[in-house]
Amino acid sequence: MLVLQTMYTQLEQRGMSDPPVNISSLRKMKQNREPISCLTAYDASFAALVDAAGTDVVLVGDSLGMVVQGHDTTVPVTVDDIIYHTRAVARGLRHAFLVADMPFMSYTSADQALHNAVRLMQEGGAKMVKLEGGVGQASIVEHLARHDVPVCAHLGLKPQSVHKIGGFTVQGREPDNARALLDAAVSLQDAGADIVLLECVPNEVGRSVATALAVPVIGIGAGPDVDGQILVLYDILNITQGRTPRFVKNFQDGHDSPLAAIKAYVAAVKSREYPAPEHCFS
Ligand code: KIV
Repeated sequence: MLVLQTMYTQLEQRGMSDPPVNISSLRKMKQNREPISCLTAYDASFAALVDAAGTDVVLVGDSLGMVVQGHDTTVPVTVDDIIYHTRAVARGLRHAFLVADMPFMSYTSADQALHNAVRLMQEGGAKMVKLEGGVGQASIVEHLARHDVPVCAHLGLKPQSVHKIGGFTVQGREPDNARALLDAAVSLQDAGADIVLLECVPNEVGRSVATALAVPVIGIGAGPDVDGQILVLYDILNITQGRTPRFVKNFQDGHDSPLAAIKAYVAAVKSREYPAPEHCFS
């Protein structure tokens, strides 16, 4: 009885008029064709802004290795790094659904993946973990799902594989590769993935994967016909120096505060104004 009272109190504190986003609400958004707005965050202050702007999903991405730690790739990021940042972000959120990245080499076996995913959830406060994978990772996703760990499977351009691929390049342009991506997405959904994230693929691939899957498909450079969009927070706020990918849009332009810029991003995703053709691949 005492436990139940505690749980209700926490829900009441969050305000029932604005209940936290969960997997069911994300699925409903896909069914209702309401685009899902997602952003990365790495600390409590930015997390609070992203949350206040009405973002549905916040990812503590291993992109923190590049935008926070200053590395050239995401490869050096560790599980402890992600836990540190996820804890901070969790403290800033009231409404958005919190996803944390599984770093490079943290899910090479089913047992290792489960051990690290549980750390991200129990120590970090993540509600879902994201891993980069294809059909080769289906058994790992299946193992996590069997233990009730919600999983987002990241397909298309997989930044942790940058040294193997030989650069950050568009994936799925050839018909065989597009077919393989679609097959992998279906296999990962069948294995228990709750969300599929597609990075840097032609619009056509984004559309075919989102149409084929029952679970939400979130795109970054995957065109307008997926179920939601994600970008790196520092990219939309124009903090990132140097060349940015084609899919990036500077939302700080024309807005006098980071909160106004983030609200503009969320509104542009919801109205499907973003991504425009200049942010897409063919
Ligand atoms: O690490 C990250 O931030 C990501 C997003 C760019 C999707 O994987």
